Amino acid sequence: MIVAIDGPSGSGKSSVAREVARRCGLTYLDTGAMYRSVAHACLERGVDPADDAATAEVARGLAIEFLPDGEGQRVIAGGEDVTAQIRTPEVERAVSPVSANPAVREAMVAAQRRFGETGDVIAEGRDIGTVVFPAADVKVFLSASPEARARRRAVQRGGGDLARGVGADVDAKEERAVLEALVRRDAYDSSRAASPLRPAADAARIDSSELPFEEVVRAVIALSPELSARAERGQR
Ligand code: DC
Repeated sequence: MIVAIDGPSGSGKSSVAREVARRCGLTYLDTGAMYRSVAHACLERGVDPADDAATAEVARGLAIEFLPDGEGQRVIAGGEDVTAQIRTPEVERAVSPVSANPAVREAMVAAQRRFGETGDVIAEGRDIGTVVFPAADVKVFLSASPEARARRRAVQRGGGDLARGVGADVDAKEERAVLEALVRRDAYDSSRAASPLRPAADAARIDSSELPFEEVVRAVIALSPELSARAERGQR
């Protein structure tokens, strides 16, 4: 089965997708990590992310793999472990033009569909229910207010994780900066010509602003009898 989870950054979709994967025995596919890997490879090779032709060349030649690692997974791009490097502010700045490039998207979507053929997958991104897997068995569009998303990201940067109930001291100025960057990135991701962020017509919409993590996970599982049965069987 294929489960598609889309939404803006900080909506909690990575944590939710990972937990649903664990409870229901699905393989987790983090498509944002793929665009980040391309951006990282461009920076490493001195390719300007705004150079569409050169960036597409990098994307087409980059083999991206995910290796299970305890509760999480490691991202291997071009044979190199880039798990930590793809989360830096430099990559964060470069990834928007990279992911707005239609030729890059074409290469990534093809790789994501191949991944989907390997079995039961929960994929998370911006265009999973609309473009990558339009016939997905379950589609979710997860959103949250900009303020709730900025708070989660700021706490994450401070070493906490609100999904796990672990707080962290957050500087109000830092949280405002996170909020501004997030609103800018949302506007960019939603207004680009190639696969803008938008819910699929048949996606279930969940707003996680006020919902505890556990309730969001349960709400996703409750959307499908197959997911509920898998969770009940306690696969994995
Ligand atoms: O989810 P994330 O923050 O790791 O995503 C990184 C960037 O990649 C973000 O700018 C949106 C983009 N992205 C995309 O365009 N399509 C996807 N399916 C996943 C991510």
